[in-house]
Amino acid sequence: MESQLGAEVKVMGLTKTYGSNQVLQSLDLEIAPGEFVVVVGRSGGGKSTLLRIVAGFERPTDGGVLMDGEPLKGRNRCARVMFQNPRLLPWETVVENVGLGLNKKDWRQKAEKALKQVGLAQRALDWPAVLSGGQKQRVALARALVREPRLLMLDEPLGALDALTRIEMQRLIETIWQEKKFTAFLITHDVDEAVMLGDRILLIDNGRITMDTRVSLPRPRKRKDQEFVTLAEKVLERLMGDEAGLINGEEEAIKELAKA
Ligand SMILES: Nc1ncnc2c1ncn2[C@@H]1O[C@H](COP(=O)(O)OP(=O)(O)OP(=O)(O)O)[C@@H](O)[C@H]1O
Ligand SMILES: [Mg+2]
Repeated sequence: MESQLGAEVKVMGLTKTYGSNQVLQSLDLEIAPGEFVVVVGRSGGGKSTLLRIVAGFERPTDGGVLMDGEPLKGRNRCARVMFQNPRLLPWETVVENVGLGLNKKDWRQKAEKALKQVGLAQRALDWPAVLSGGQKQRVALARALVREPRLLMLDEPLGALDALTRIEMQRLIETIWQEKKFTAFLITHDVDEAVMLGDRILLIDNGRITMDTRVSLPRPRKRKDQEFVTLAEKVLERLMGDEAGLINGEEEAIKELAKA
């Protein structure tokens, strides 16, 4: 099992409650080694909660996670997470941010290699403050890659970037994933991004997986291809369907309030 580059993830009967709020409802999910899974869904549906539990940041209320068949306990050692906020330390240089916490002996060499992968080798000695938003996210990506994760988890990593930088970052993530063969788990609100990158697109609503679609388009994908457009529309429709549900739900609630 250890020889595989990408981790196999099995989520079984995962339930998470905060007080009386049941955020994940006995959720089951199997992710194959090296698979690129993209999760979409309405705000508050439980996407980040699922990510945090698989990353080992939080404990489930019930059910559990198997990594390559082994129950996950505590922090997930083979996973790395990248968030929308790059979370760089302003008082450390770019290369120091990437090499943070690595072995004293070869941290710089490893960090420089990771920076090269994301196209920022020449910015190694800069302070984070002088980088653009897209460059900061590249540093955050390098910091995740430097540990050679077998599972890379991304929680809306490109959400704050302009459209062009975003597309560049999508290409970069895809290229590195193809080269490194880790398992990828990406949360996004951008349907095009989901169709661009996913082997599979999951819709999570109200703590449950309500859609699980395979994307068999060859890579690199083109936004203008008819199949791409058709699939993006289908996913968007499902997403909007759920949102329509929310609006109807709100209308019901307003009616109830009016009666009271
Ligand atoms: N630490 C916490 N304590 C209490 N409630 C929480 C906590 N973390 C999340 N929740 C609740 O769990 C629900 C799901 O949150 P989560 O962050 O997983 O949603 P999400 O699908 O990632 O949404 P978004 O798209 O807005 O990021 C929300 O109702 C949220 O308020
Ligand atoms: Mg979230």
